[in-house]
Amino acid sequence: MSLELDHATMQRLGRQVADHVARHLAGLREQRVVKTLSRREAEPLIYTPPPREGADFDALMAFLETRVFPHHTPEPHPGFLAYVQSCATFPAVMGDWLAAGYNFFGGAWAVASGPAMLEVTVLEWFRQWIGMPEGTGGLLTSGGSTANLMALVAARHAVVGDDASRIPRLSVYTSNQMHSSVVRAAWIAGIPRANLRILPVDDSFRMRLPALEQAIHADRAAGFLPVAVVGSAGTTNTGATDPLPEIASLCREHGIWFHVDAAYGGFAALCPRGKAELEGIGLADSVTLDPHKWLYVPFECGSLLAREPRRLLDAFHILPDYLRDLGGSGGEVNFADYGEQLSREARAIKVWTGVSYYGTERLAEEIGASIGRAELAERLVRATPGLEVLAPARLAIFCFRAHPARLDEPAALDALNQRVLERVNADGHFFISTTRIRGALALRICACGWRTTDADIERLVGEVRQAAEN
Ligand SMILES: Cc1ncc(COP(=O)(O)O)c(C=O)c1O
Repeated sequence: MSLELDHATMQRLGRQVADHVARHLAGLREQRVVKTLSRREAEPLIYTPPPREGADFDALMAFLETRVFPHHTPEPHPGFLAYVQSCATFPAVMGDWLAAGYNFFGGAWAVASGPAMLEVTVLEWFRQWIGMPEGTGGLLTSGGSTANLMALVAARHAVVGDDASRIPRLSVYTSNQMHSSVVRAAWIAGIPRANLRILPVDDSFRMRLPALEQAIHADRAAGFLPVAVVGSAGTTNTGATDPLPEIASLCREHGIWFHVDAAYGGFAALCPRGKAELEGIGLADSVTLDPHKWLYVPFECGSLLAREPRRLLDAFHILPDYLRDLGGSGGEVNFADYGEQLSREARAIKVWTGVSYYGTERLAEEIGASIGRAELAERLVRATPGLEVLAPARLAIFCFRAHPARLDEPAALDALNQRVLERVNADGHFFISTTRIRGALALRICACGWRTTDADIERLVGEVRQAAEN
């Protein structure tokens, strides 16, 4: 059999896939949200030895439809309120399919100048939305973890260059609310684990500035080399944003790289309320933003913007003999020179189709509405006896718990809320998760998905109340 399929066959297979996905997405609300298997259940259902002979595509689809796809928790489901949902729009999904269909090589301008220019374009949009200066550049990445890592590697390079002997003295500053990927990024960048300064936060879960200032002074006095401060613009735990303007001026004063992890919250800048919340983000030296979170683009799509893109080039550019003819001297961007990936997909296509199909005004409306939905949840919880706010709604994230009268023992409250979580998630309409707020187990929702409605939020709070009473 030839590997080349004729046009009619490709069309038939494509239609089959598109029909299947469209049916799945259109029927999401009727599906249970949490659907999972143990390894013991999954293995006999799904594992097969490598197939020696080919099979009909209908048979492959039937296998996937019956054995694989039913066992997942659909991210774009209106009841998916756990972690950070990726609620892709269909036009963005189409962009992903197009990029895969053409299989553009996104690493070098010379072989995909159109897609590379589209990447320059969407990065320029991001720059404008968050108010970074002209000349800012960067790249699309697999996600926020990679973008945070690229930022710390670039910051490290800016301080020590090729002198690895100084790496053990480098120190990084962040708050105890930062995302775990920042810690991992520091480790991978070689910063000794003991040199990561995890700073306390104030009552609003924002990095305490005096603590930061004190830590920098103490480290300088002890001979450490402060390499970067990592602030958060929308923490995963509570949606809090650090005091970005103040941190930026402190960093400027001390000559320290200021990176902002806005993987979750950054695209809130599209709407007026989010923009106000993110004040000062444009002052950073680099910013992580995840289109696969609040810009409704399918996995995988993160991004890193750097005020001086030259810093990324300095850290990552490498020119082996076999890539010398790629060229690029007239402003053309070889994205492989700005990060860790050589072969990379053209993620800009899905960003561009998703944003362009609806326009920024429509997307901004949706982002504003999701901020409002978390606030609705907060109002409902405040009005419900037996429920308690643990962290007020911020950038569509809200933490609360069941707290019946006369039950104040911390371990008993944690156990009750664990049971509430399990009951709510077992019911099938919602998927929520937990975190710890000041040590207490909290029920956490992140309402950033556009399929979720106010009625869903009302139903969820009702389900939590009932689960706590039974
Ligand atoms: C604030 C923040 N930073 C970084 C990340 C990591 O992003 P990714 O999962 O795209 O690697 C997340 C993920 O939820 C996040 O919320």
